[in-house]
Formats: sequence, C-alpha cells, structure tokens
Amino acid sequence: MSGPRVAVVTGAARGIGAATVRRLARTGWAVVAVDRCADDPDVPYPLAEPAQLDMLAKEFELVRTLQADVRDEVALHAAVERAERDFGGLDAAVAAAAVMLGGGAVWEQTDAQWRTLLDVDVMGVAHLARAAVPALLRRPQPRTGRFVALASAAAHRGLWGLGAYCAAKHAVAGLVRGLACDLRDTGVNAVAVSPGSTRTDMLRATADLYDLPEVDKLAEQQLTGRPLEPEEVAAVVAWACSADSFAVTGSVLHADGGFTA
Ligand SMILES: NC(=O)c1ccc[n+]([C@@H]2O[C@H](COP(=O)([O-])OP(=O)(O)OC[C@H]3O[C@@H](n4cnc5c(N)ncnc54)[C@H](O)[C@@H]3O)[C@@H](O)[C@H]2O)c1
Repeated sequence: MSGPRVAVVTGAARGIGAATVRRLARTGWAVVAVDRCADDPDVPYPLAEPAQLDMLAKEFELVRTLQADVRDEVALHAAVERAERDFGGLDAAVAAAAVMLGGGAVWEQTDAQWRTLLDVDVMGVAHLARAAVPALLRRPQPRTGRFVALASAAAHRGLWGLGAYCAAKHAVAGLVRGLACDLRDTGVNAVAVSPGSTRTDMLRATADLYDLPEVDKLAEQQLTGRPLEPEEVAAVVAWACSADSFAVTGSVLHADGGFTA
C-alpha cells in the first residue's frame, strides 16, 4: 500500500474527536473530519460551530471536512467516498459524535430524549459502520483496518440521572463486540474506547446537569485525581487506529483514568 493511512472521524470539530483528528494528522494520517456543526433543537447545550471544523483543514494539508449529521447515513457514505477518492482508501473509522441528555430518573426521561440518544449515539455508530466497513474491506490483504467507537464509562457503570445515556453507551459496546465477530479473520478490528471524565464541552454540560460549578468534581472517582484532557484520550484512540493494535478486537479500552477500576 502506498500513501498515508486514511481515517474518517465523526464528531470531529471539537473535544475528543478534534484531538483525534489532530493527533492522527500530526502523525502522517490523511483524515476526513465530519461534524454536524450546528445546534440540535433536542440537545440543551450548544454543539460545535462550523469554524471549529474549518480550522482543522486550515491546520493540516491532509484533512478534508464535511458538515454532516451522523443520523444521515447517505452523508457518511459521502465522507467515505471522499476518503477513497482523495486519499486512495480507508484504514480507520472513528465514531466520536454523540450527545449527552438526562437529568431525571429513568422513569422521567422522555421518548424524545431516548430517541435522540439512540439515533445519534447508537445509530450514528451503526451508520458509520455501514458506510466505512465495506471500504475498510476494500483494502487488499494483508489489511490493518480499524473501527473505533467512543463509548463511555457509562457503558460499564450506572450513572445517576443518565439512565438513557448509559443504555445507549452499553449498546455501543455491544455493537462493537458483534461487529468484531462479523469481521473475524479479515484483518479489520473493532474496539470501543471508553473515556472517563474528559475536559470537553460535553463534560461542562454534564456538570451543569448536576449543578456543579467545577467539572473537576466529576473526576473525583478517577484515580488520576483530575479530568483527562481530550489529547490523553485521543492518544488511546490513535493507538487503536494503528496497525499496532492487532491483538485488541471486540473489546473495550478503558481510557478512564481508573474510573471503572
Ligand atoms: N467528555 C467526557 O467526559 C466523555 C466521557 C465519556 C464518553 N465520552 C464520549 O466521547 C465522545 C466525544 O465526546 P466529547 O466529550 O468530545 O463531546 P463534545 O460535545 O465536546 O463533542 C462532540 C462532537 O460531536 C458533534 N455532534 C453531536 N451530535 C452530532 C450529530 N448528530 N452528527 C454529527 N456530529 C455531532 C458535536 O458538534 C461535537 O463537535 C462522545 O461519544 C462521548 O459520548 C465523553
């Protein structure tokens, strides 16, 4: 295979997704960075802005950007086509786009909240798998394709006021396990990376949900004693994207500073 390794990353405009794009691009990857870049009427905190996505293309020659919602499977196919057309193929797909909703007990959470969480956080990952896996498999053998989904410590623990989000993130871990089985013997691996409290806008929104002035309070259960930085989680995601991660498939990398230890 000639040319750079190539990735598609969703939720790429800010937070862990943006840190992943930067980490990959700095280490020679070509990336198609996808983000909705618009507020969502069903989400009570602001999402990324177009300028944040544009910035990535300004910083790196080998980054292309696409404004798209992960609920739009056709748009994700277009992102993968862009990767194959501009960069010659696809080696990794990273599903980082998600929203966090909650605040009430499970019996108080509305159908609208459940639907948004399941559509964005679960079906968004499934849509990326449908668009990206066939492209990962189009690489000739021996291939080293990687599908990486951001789950959460909420995929492994119950969290107060976040029952529907926990259910969605448990589904992401299950999706990855099933996908890894379907990819048996192909050279393409699937893993989930489950961050703990990481200093992003989503963590700020989570602190607001609990009426906490400081996000650091949310990291008290972590052995790190502080929230993780997005770059620290991106380092794990980037490793999972690399050929070095062959031994890890169908499992979860707990990038949570010991939250679930
Ligand atoms: N920050 C944390 O503490 C934490 C902890 C555990 C898991 N996670 C997970 O890590 C991932 C990244 O989270 P983050 O903290 O960087 O969040 P963030 O809110 O800072 O970034 C998420 C990005 O996804 C985009 N996005 C949201 N809905 C979208 C949609 N429908 N289509 C396309 N793009 C959309 C947003 O515009 C934003 O740029 C998520 O899957 C999240 O659930 C985060």
